[in-house]
Amino acid sequence: MNSRYQHSLELSARAEKSIPLGSQTFSKSRLCFPYGAAPLFIERGNGADVWDVDENKYIDFAGGLLAISLGYCDPDINAAVIEQLNKGSIFSLPHRLETEVAEKLIELIPCAEMVRFGKNGTDATSACIRLARAITGREHVAVCGYHGWQDWYIGSTTRHLGVPECVRELTHKFEYNDLDTLAQIFAKHPDQIAAVILEPMNVAWPEPDFLPGLRKLCDAHGTLLIFDETITGFRYHLGGAQTLFGVTPDLAAFGKGMANGFPISAVVGKRQYMCRMEDIFFSGTFGGDAIALAAANAVIDKMQRLDVPARLAERGQRLLDGLNVLLKEINAPDWLGTAGHPSWSFLTVADSPNHSLWLLKSYLIQELCKRGILTLGSHNLNLAHTNEHIDFLLATYAEILPTLIKLDSAGKIEDSLNGEPIQPVFKVR
Ligand SMILES: Cc1ncc(COP(=O)(O)O)c(C=O)c1O
Repeated sequence: MNSRYQHSLELSARAEKSIPLGSQTFSKSRLCFPYGAAPLFIERGNGADVWDVDENKYIDFAGGLLAISLGYCDPDINAAVIEQLNKGSIFSLPHRLETEVAEKLIELIPCAEMVRFGKNGTDATSACIRLARAITGREHVAVCGYHGWQDWYIGSTTRHLGVPECVRELTHKFEYNDLDTLAQIFAKHPDQIAAVILEPMNVAWPEPDFLPGLRKLCDAHGTLLIFDETITGFRYHLGGAQTLFGVTPDLAAFGKGMANGFPISAVVGKRQYMCRMEDIFFSGTFGGDAIALAAANAVIDKMQRLDVPARLAERGQRLLDGLNVLLKEINAPDWLGTAGHPSWSFLTVADSPNHSLWLLKSYLIQELCKRGILTLGSHNLNLAHTNEHIDFLLATYAEILPTLIKLDSAGKIEDSLNGEPIQPVFKVR
């Protein structure tokens, strides 16, 4: 095992005595980074950089799983948070900031006429589903992408242990950019689909007819269309992917980057549907947490002032262009590629004839971490990423990828791993 990660490994052994998997979040756990060949704990961050518990420094392209939209310890957001901290965080009655942030979302997001706040993206997607079921009096839902850890969604993945069969039977998966797969679900369950929920985009761009086609299908069947903008919101556009693609859903879920790492999510939607929130139950002690709301308030102001989505797209395009040129130059095999929106792009890795994608990704993450880059395979940009950061990543890829390809041809990826391979997780994108 690698002494570069000595303190990480020691802390991991200690953590696993008190915390299952040693992590609160599956995608941050040792299952997702090659154990022994990557850091396991981060100590602090600043701008685009983080330091692990061994004091190794990384340019972070994971960004707290896309929660970091402006950079770690952004001075404007920290100042707003500290100001609110000195006034109090949670009270016994609602706070003025709830209305102020709601009004900002309504101004920016096409489908937003009313707003409710939660803490995680899962709160928001699950509230949307409960609302849609209450409004339509139907129980089945169609899903596409990832929507969080609650029964109604996770039951449709391979990690469905603990989810009742009767709940699993209510969720149906359809394929992105394939309207027929959704039409088949409507045909099989006539008048039973309460909601169609999807990530409006993740890896692939929508075909021109796809999102308008979804809107039409939902209208024809009396089904609510829900966009899960947990990632795309405040990233693709200040008005979300729904603004970028010009298709307005009935409800939408926001989260992740809307407060630069402070925990808050939002359900937004048309007034006629959102007012039914008064009849269902969506309620939590921390729903009106003034600290996260102060952060969201400051993030939205800064994003508007600096047009952050445009800046992310510009930096991200430099990265995608550079990576595409590199893949061409090194004559990359077809199991390597690029995908995604510039602000959230991917170096895609598929199974090669010789190795599983999990082995190939383990090697990649190992080599990137060794050279001071933290990623799970995507490029989650934030405002603190500069052209220099992008160029460093490109130079690092130029160093690693030819070796990856050579080792793959020689059948030697496994021999080249200094730690345990990452473990397959359910793939929904
Ligand atoms: C598109 C999407 N929806 C929902 C969620 C769930 O959000 P959270 O993990 O904050 O509950 C995620 C989290 O990764 C997500 O990417």
